[in-house]
Amino acid sequence: MSLANRHILLGVTGGIAAYKAAELARLLVKAGARVQVVMTRSAGEFIGAMTFQAITGKETRSDLFDSAHEAAMGHIELARWADLVIIAPATANFIALMARGSANDLLSTLCLATAAPVVVAPAMNRQMWSDPATQANIETLQEHGRLILGPAAGEQACGDVGPGRMLEPADIFDAVNGMFTSGALAGVRALVTAGPTREAIDPVRFIGNRSSGKMGFAIAQALEEQGAEVTLVAGPSQLPTPSGVTRIDVEAALEMHNAVMQIAADCDLFVATAAVADYRPETVASSKIKKTAESQEMRLVRNPDILADVAALASGPFTVGFAAETDNVVAYADEKRQRKCIDMIAANDVSSQSGGGFDSDENALHVLWEGGQQELPMTGKLRLARQLVELISQKIHA
Ligand code: C5P
Repeated sequence: MSLANRHILLGVTGGIAAYKAAELARLLVKAGARVQVVMTRSAGEFIGAMTFQAITGKETRSDLFDSAHEAAMGHIELARWADLVIIAPATANFIALMARGSANDLLSTLCLATAAPVVVAPAMNRQMWSDPATQANIETLQEHGRLILGPAAGEQACGDVGPGRMLEPADIFDAVNGMFTSGALAGVRALVTAGPTREAIDPVRFIGNRSSGKMGFAIAQALEEQGAEVTLVAGPSQLPTPSGVTRIDVEAALEMHNAVMQIAADCDLFVATAAVADYRPETVASSKIKKTAESQEMRLVRNPDILADVAALASGPFTVGFAAETDNVVAYADEKRQRKCIDMIAANDVSSQSGGGFDSDENALHVLWEGGQQELPMTGKLRLARQLVELISQKIHA
């Protein structure tokens, strides 16, 4: 429930308040946000790109036609990367560009290309601020859903006194921080399973699957952002633990089952995203099986269904399952929801033409619950996780 790991695109335009944007960048970085600064050409007259780079650890960008940067992360990708865009300071000229929908440099193009909320902190001489043209542009931005922060009134760099000063960095920070700290799940104890399992055959071999764990890790992060106390029981995965999340690493389905059953009864929410092996070898060879026989037989036995076992707990948590299907996605998922007696199921089309699923960075879900359903269209897994968490949060509170 914080700015931690949020992707903030900080747009700096050419006014004297640009030097204060460095302090804003520092506050955001300190709060754990990932900050990418984009400067306009005129911002460079007031502050150096190197200042921001030193603070954010990311190269400052300014050029729309920079082939090296475009190859690494193109402007559309950057626009998608952002969870929030902050323009601070926003000059009268840049506000006019935004109001017109111009895309004549990298920053104005990003403002048009992003689906993320855009926050604007105007900074200009008081006369320029009160000019009807500027006021009309501000109204237009508000109509377009942009959030205007400030300006403050007071002494100005030019010697005038009046409205037009950029809000202080700490005030902009507080406003932005408030946007991410709804804490809808504050106090909720959540348990998430993620990743694949490995079912040992002998000391060096196992039966596994292609799950990357990305969806489950994203859900753990999204739950934490909303204030939940999150435990993530993860099968083998190289993914970093989302900040604030308690991680328990396991290998096999039986271990995952044990870890989950020890805590599930004390949890309010269980989200099962793990791709748990349905079967495991009946016996595990104690030493490496030699390549002597012409053929081998291996007997497999059923693993416990972790999700169904949690759903069967008396006064257990609110349960959310996943269903990876290749056809009849919605019907099969709903059948699974009813059979396993779970509260909500997120169906996932993993057919080859779907474009989402196992190792992909994007996914789409069809979420079903008793008496309702909602489609969550293809998008990045973290954004999708946040949308799913929003739905879960509504259902829990209902
Ligand atoms: O029955 P199926 O494996 O398709 O169900 C998928 C859902 O059940 C997922 O949420 C998965 O995490 C969960 N599951 C489980 N334990 C198993 C098998 C599946 O928790 N042994």
